[in-house]
Amino acid sequence: MDFMKEGVGSLVNPILARHARDMNLARVNPMNQEMKSDRRGESRLEAIAAGKPVEAVIHERVLQAEPAVEIQDFSLWYGKKQALHGVTMPIPKGEVTALVGPSGCGKSTLLRSVNRMNDLIDGLTVSGDILLGGESILAPGVDVIALRKRMGMVFQKPNPFPMSIFENVVYPLRIDGVRDRQTLREVCEHSLRGAALWDEVRDRLHESGLSLSGGQQQRLCIARAIASDPEVLLLDEPCSALDPLATNKIEDLIQDLRGEYTILIVTHNMQQAARISDYTAFMYLGRLIEYGETSQIFTKPHLKETEDYVTGRFG
Ligand SMILES: Nc1ncnc2c1ncn2[C@@H]1O[C@H](COP(=O)(O)OP(=O)(O)O)[C@@H](O)[C@H]1O
Ligand SMILES: [Mg+2]
Repeated sequence: MDFMKEGVGSLVNPILARHARDMNLARVNPMNQEMKSDRRGESRLEAIAAGKPVEAVIHERVLQAEPAVEIQDFSLWYGKKQALHGVTMPIPKGEVTALVGPSGCGKSTLLRSVNRMNDLIDGLTVSGDILLGGESILAPGVDVIALRKRMGMVFQKPNPFPMSIFENVVYPLRIDGVRDRQTLREVCEHSLRGAALWDEVRDRLHESGLSLSGGQQQRLCIARAIASDPEVLLLDEPCSALDPLATNKIEDLIQDLRGEYTILIVTHNMQQAARISDYTAFMYLGRLIEYGETSQIFTKPHLKETEDYVTGRFG
């Protein structure tokens, strides 16, 4: 890119200049203090609130990682209301990426877009693209059911089905018409072990999933999510309804699952993001603001706005 050599001053178009400046600083001189505010001394968050275009700062390490999912210039509208604005975000394979940001900034919307759960909403429009394993999940003819099997999803509130622990876990296989008892038993044990729940429920597999404690129910939901052997796990504030002990267990579990799965987790708990994730993405008002290695985002983010948020100064 020639503008990097010539310097931003040689550009006439102000939008291009801003873009060039961001790219230049983010990629070449990440710690440049100038990044902390734009030329008029206005913060990025104020600029965004005023509807101005602001480029995300994506750290080089994120761009170098091999992506499992690539969100590309993705925008989403609920009717006339725009909830996501040109989000571009690669999700590194086999690692844990945390999505953080104030309530209502679009974290759940983005997560649900990745497995096309928003499809069911009336009046929804999207633009841009999302790739899984290099292929568009939005292209015409994509088999959405098959797609969702490649991405397990777990929600804030544990949602076991009103059936036995065993049937909860093998539910995805039942939908596929799998009947072989041996296969079902194997997948059940493997998934419950994967979700660190096997030892607690091995003797009561035929009791209702609803008889478990909240933390166990959430691990049951994780077992169900991994029973279909997905590539990606999408976790939307999976610990927010749990007590600290159950939360610890889920956090340990997420550490165990990394490597085998690509994990994208929404959390409003900054300590949790810092503890369990490899990468952290900070969103604000439907936009990606800064995205980098968790250790950097929490100790030396490029932007003052990110620092203010992760240290609890707003949000
Ligand atoms: N089904 C929906 N219909 C209309 N607006 C929605 C819907 N879901 C979310 N929103 C709006 O989209 C924005 C982002 O919401 P959400 O993705 O839930 O944010 P977060 O998970 O970060 O709290 C909010 O303004 C919210 O009110
Ligand atoms: Mg949410």
